Amino acid sequence: QRHLLGIEHLRPDEITTLLDLADKYVELNRRRDKHSRTLAGLTQINMFFENSTRTQSSFELAGKRLGADVMNMSMQASSIKKGETLIDTALTLNAMHPDLLVVRHPHSGAVDLLAQKVNCAVINAGDGRHEHPTQALLDALTIRRAKGRIHRLNIAICGDIAHSRVARSNLLLLGKMENRVRLIGPPTLMPNRIGDFGVEVYDDMREGLKDVDVVMMLRLQKERMDGGFIPSEREYFHRFGLDAEKLSHAKDDAIVMHPGPMNRGVEIDGTLADDINRSVIQEQVEMGVAVRMAAMDLLARNLRASPKEVMV
Ligand code: CP
Repeated sequence: QRHLLGIEHLRPDEITTLLDLADKYVELNRRRDKHSRTLAGLTQINMFFENSTRTQSSFELAGKRLGADVMNMSMQASSIKKGETLIDTALTLNAMHPDLLVVRHPHSGAVDLLAQKVNCAVINAGDGRHEHPTQALLDALTIRRAKGRIHRLNIAICGDIAHSRVARSNLLLLGKMENRVRLIGPPTLMPNRIGDFGVEVYDDMREGLKDVDVVMMLRLQKERMDGGFIPSEREYFHRFGLDAEKLSHAKDDAIVMHPGPMNRGVEIDGTLADDINRSVIQEQVEMGVAVRMAAMDLLARNLRASPKEVMV
């Protein structure tokens, strides 16, 4: 593949190849000397048009550990503020001959559009409510390491599904790898055409969590609710917030996941989030660096195999 725009475009064998490589990068990242020259000579530009802690910092660390020249564009300080369009911004940076663009944008489809205009590899770091492919891949690696496999598991994705690109990418990936996925949340926060995904849908946490292996919690994404219904946080936690009692309906060894950022006391109880016997939230962050190293390594192999045309 030339770009990594979504899980939609990946085959199960490509997902497995990436996870296998990421496992090797986990080992590298745990060493004192974490450096490799895999991306030496290549230039990576990170363009984040939306806030990020985990994704932006892990892409930056991943690029630096692989030896790339990494530049973080400060979009707040860019000429976007003077009215320059996304495409003109991308074409301007493209003329400086980057090899990898990592892009996050609030609008669904914006990263795909940008990828059609540039002649370098593009990685989608999250576009609107569409996809967040590296999040789903790091979630898959976390599950595979905790459960020993990433197939035939019962997995519950809980909360604000309608506005979540994390849910969409995870639904696609977990489906491709033949897992049984359940969605749990208020009907007002379920997508309209949820039947298209072939999943079971619940609006009761205790019923939905029965016998699951993995519980993925999601944040209420108020920034994407466009003035629609926003539940009260207190009522939401009572009905849909994960705590020890609700988790007791899942399997005894079920793991708890959250992509972050977390709102403690809204979608998850803070004590449970910190319980190292159940929560793998910090492991997810660790896997994020390794998965992004693997993704950039594989794209760089393709770049080197078919050198890009120089735009004039
Ligand atoms: N999970 C995730 O995308 O987190 P950030 O918004 O902090 O990057």
